[in-house]
Amino acid sequence: MLNGVGHPVRHAKLRHYLMCPPTYFDVTYAINPWMDPSGHVDRALAARQWSGLVDAYRSTGHRVDLLEPLADLPDMVYAANGATVVDGRTLPARFANPERDAEAAVHTAWHWRNGALYGGGNIQPAIAINEAEGDFAVLSRRILAGHGFRTSPEAHRELATLTDREVLSLELVDPRLFHLDLALAVLDDERDHIAYYPDAFSQRSRRLLGQLFPDALIATKLDAYAFGLNVVSDGLHVFIPAGARQLRELLAVAGYWPISVDLSELIKGGGGVKCCTQEIRPARTAQLVLSQLLAGASS
Ligand code: ARG
Repeated sequence: MLNGVGHPVRHAKLRHYLMCPPTYFDVTYAINPWMDPSGHVDRALAARQWSGLVDAYRSTGHRVDLLEPLADLPDMVYAANGATVVDGRTLPARFANPERDAEAAVHTAWHWRNGALYGGGNIQPAIAINEAEGDFAVLSRRILAGHGFRTSPEAHRELATLTDREVLSLELVDPRLFHLDLALAVLDDERDHIAYYPDAFSQRSRRLLGQLFPDALIATKLDAYAFGLNVVSDGLHVFIPAGARQLRELLAVAGYWPISVDLSELIKGGGGVKCCTQEIRPARTAQLVLSQLLAGASS
């Protein structure tokens, strides 16, 4: 079904997210161009903004589980970087920078303890460097994977083997957009509708994106630098910073409902909405049980 301006009518799909409170959030080192260790971080404000995001997810019906934060790991709030879960199969991260190394084990332990929640149990130790959903964008069948700054192309192959899915490599070239999730957003993971900022990619990757996604929304540099592509979409609601004005307009025309989220304090570490949000994509059987339970509950 199409809306009045020829776009499909959008539907929200209930999601399961894993997030980590910014209890120890700080900028004490610089591993990306946004981080300035000489600047000031207001941790109380970061906590309020982060809670606002959790509330926004829960009030739109999504499930949010929490990971216990650890002191000395100031980047743990960026939970998207800790593991990738596709069809209940989990590839934990292996971080590029030693400063974040210890986060991977915390994520792995959470998934071992809680895998039953999502029909998981297949947790494969990572061999090559991968920063999880920072560089992996999951579509209906394919997975898009970034490389150039953090995740290595070998890790793309590891994820393909674990998930039995095609993984398409994309090369990132702008150091400010060092993860794929800063340069490209999945808006509808059933119809494979995405938004991206072309100049963040090498010429070859840009060409590939243009061929594969002719209906993609094209973001500007202003949108991308306002963390406008670092968003979470449930298929209808798109949780997005207010600063990404032009992209918000494009989203609204395309039938999405942009929901403003302010994470200005967390942006000081180089991460926004998507960085704070790890999506747990259940095994198909678990999904079925969940939807039957939900159908039972509402009938
Ligand atoms: N300070 C963190 C780092 O440089 C920011 C991570 C951003 N996360 C993301 N999913 N893009 O690793």
